[in-house]
Amino acid sequence: MTTATARSDLTVIKARQRETWASGDFAVIASRIVLVSELLADAADLRAGWRVLDVACGNGNATLAAARSNTYALGVDYVPALLESGRRRAAAERLDVEFRLGDAEDLPVADASFDAVLSVFGAMFAPDHQRAAAEIVRAARPGATIGLASWTPDGFVGEMFSVISQHVPGPPGIESPLLWGTERHLSDLFGDAVADARPAQRTCTFRFTSPEDFAADFRTFYGPTVKAFEALDDEGQAALAADLADLARRWDRNDGGSIAIPGTYLESVLALRR
Ligand SMILES: C[S@@+](CC[C@H](N)C(=O)[O-])C[C@H]1O[C@@H](n2cnc3c(N)ncnc32)[C@H](O)[C@@H]1O
Repeated sequence: MTTATARSDLTVIKARQRETWASGDFAVIASRIVLVSELLADAADLRAGWRVLDVACGNGNATLAAARSNTYALGVDYVPALLESGRRRAAAERLDVEFRLGDAEDLPVADASFDAVLSVFGAMFAPDHQRAAAEIVRAARPGATIGLASWTPDGFVGEMFSVISQHVPGPPGIESPLLWGTERHLSDLFGDAVADARPAQRTCTFRFTSPEDFAADFRTFYGPTVKAFEALDDEGQAALAADLADLARRWDRNDGGSIAIPGTYLESVLALRR
């Protein structure tokens, strides 16, 4: 495959991914993972007055978390409806934020214009990992702080992606987003740009009244699951719903009644070289 062909394939894949994230209503799922952004903003030790960029911000969990520390925060995402939702949230709290339409692989910001760059389960989904990492570094000033949260391959969400792909295989030839949930891959991607790295494994707990409730919620609101169900016939849909409920049952750490699922992710705070 030539580089030009590879690039145009990635463009097609990205257009499909954008449609995927625009389906369902990610704002509903985002409300279940707010804590991840709050913890990341705290771990990144943001300073009031800093300029903070949130890459692939969705409806602004990390953008808002940063702005609550009295930073100026800019959220970038390629789904307009999520940005609109973020603007409404920011207005309700009178926060100093801006939301801008853009691609994580081609950020609409000037070089070295941010003191900190955050991305929560965001940049990891760009098909060209190296390009997304390079854009984060380009946007950050020398000595800036990078804060990343990425699902781990062997955690609950990693397994959920593998269950979905057993029913509806993903596009061939792109690296798994879950690689961002490993220290090794982050070190390969950010390499020499980094002076110091502080990785931590954390869990985000999903709570539902039942395994079936989990499967129904993700089927209705979470883009990747919405699109997988759309691609299946009735029998396939029933099988995927059953497998998702089974997955939740296996990961549940409660002893009966409602369920609590620990979702493991890698939180990484990187200090760039000066
Ligand atoms: C799992 S959601 C996380 C959203 C948000 N960071 C949060 O924590 O709630 C992934 C987000 O990445 C965005 N996204 C994925 N690939 C992108 C790209 N190449 N450029 C811009 N946004 C992207 C999607 O639109 C979606 O909002």
